[in-house]
Amino acid sequence: MLTEEKNKQAKTSKGEWNPQSWLQYPIKQLPEYPDQEELEKAYKKLSSLPPLITSWEIEALKDKLAEASAGKRFMIQGGDCAEKFEDCEPGKIVNMLKVLLQTSFILIHEMGVPVVRIGRMAGQYAKPRSSNWVEVDGEKMMNYRGDLINSIEADKEARRPDPNRLIQGYNSAGLTLNFLRALADEGFADLHHPEYWELDFMKQNRYYKEYKAMVQSINKAIQFVESISPTNYPMLQNIKMYTSHEALNLYYDSAQTRQVPRREGYYNLTSHMVWLGHRTRDLDGAHVEYLRGIRNPIGIKMGPGLDHEEAIRIIETLNPTREAGKIVLITRFGQDKVADELPDLIKAVEREGLEVVWSCDPMHGNTFKTDEEIKTRNFEDILSEIKKTFEIHRAQNTYLGGVHLELTGDNVTECVGGAQGLNEDGLKHNYETYCDPRLNYKQSLEMAFLIAQEWKLSYG
Ligand code: PEP
Ligand code: CO
Repeated sequence: MLTEEKNKQAKTSKGEWNPQSWLQYPIKQLPEYPDQEELEKAYKKLSSLPPLITSWEIEALKDKLAEASAGKRFMIQGGDCAEKFEDCEPGKIVNMLKVLLQTSFILIHEMGVPVVRIGRMAGQYAKPRSSNWVEVDGEKMMNYRGDLINSIEADKEARRPDPNRLIQGYNSAGLTLNFLRALADEGFADLHHPEYWELDFMKQNRYYKEYKAMVQSINKAIQFVESISPTNYPMLQNIKMYTSHEALNLYYDSAQTRQVPRREGYYNLTSHMVWLGHRTRDLDGAHVEYLRGIRNPIGIKMGPGLDHEEAIRIIETLNPTREAGKIVLITRFGQDKVADELPDLIKAVEREGLEVVWSCDPMHGNTFKTDEEIKTRNFEDILSEIKKTFEIHRAQNTYLGGVHLELTGDNVTECVGGAQGLNEDGLKHNYETYCDPRLNYKQSLEMAFLIAQEWKLSYG
């Protein structure tokens, strides 16, 4: 089936779409699977498995994002740079949920608007890389491209793209999602006890008093809700968590893309939202072709060197009916370039009257290597891009409706800076990521608080 689709005449302009029509277009960042027969088998299997999520959840998220584009809501999208299959375990999932919930509570409390939470979770298993090949101990092998594609193990064989990983990815995503849903449905214990939040590190921060007052106030609000309805906390239950990942390995995404009864169009049922990466957003490439046919909300990463006319065409291609809540523009220019690049992009989008959720990814434009070759990011640079992005939107009269962060609920040491005072020497203590450096638990809470302060300056 896949080979047949691939051999069809490639379209010169966008023609009929189907979940596999992307196979007729050039694809970046996805190496060929050496064993096509095995690929067909895995693809067929994945296509036959039940969906991980439902179309009505996707539509509900789109409604919430429409509110964010209208300035009535804020969005936090966050999680690992790359999830690993082995991280599909309770501690990691609980910690991620905890940090996403707590950061969202900080935002809600400080901003006074509803917040939608979207995890980079339950499917963020495939990564774009700057080169196809690497040399390890003198041996040339394929670069690691995320657990969905090959293994991190520095071994030629293990680095070959393996189609069975499509199924493993689906299984890990399903298990993660199942646990997330159970925690969220039952009312997550930590939520009722903000006094457990680890705040001592904030003492070094000039905002400590305000921060402490905020936690006390959240605590009081929770106690109040619980006291009027002791056995049932409807406001604290059914915490909504949405999931997202980069639509990079289109075999994974398209195998689970289908029609559902009584609705028009096709849904990617592996994830509520997917995004188009900075390195795969070619108008005539496979990723844009695939994404133009699905009804899920779509994020589009936009970074340095972006041609604005092309950006407009991508948005129009992915949202031809101009549906509200459909497109999240995730800008990631870097704190040193954002002032040069973002204003004109905003003007171009405004000129065309395109309604989007503006989101800021302050992570991917601010990565650097220390003298010891450790990949890191500085808390101050991240905050600086956020501040500049808010300022630019304020000056243009547009609404910055969300942030996109790489973070974890664990106490890792991957980004330097923040009130916790992590420096380059401290990075080695607990550096876990295979990919990009993440804000740790404390840095994430502090960042949420500082984001809220910036939001208040602009829209409060
Ligand atoms: C990412 O979000 O992990 C990523 C690779 O981002 P970008 O496409 O913006 O480089
Ligand atoms: Co990343």
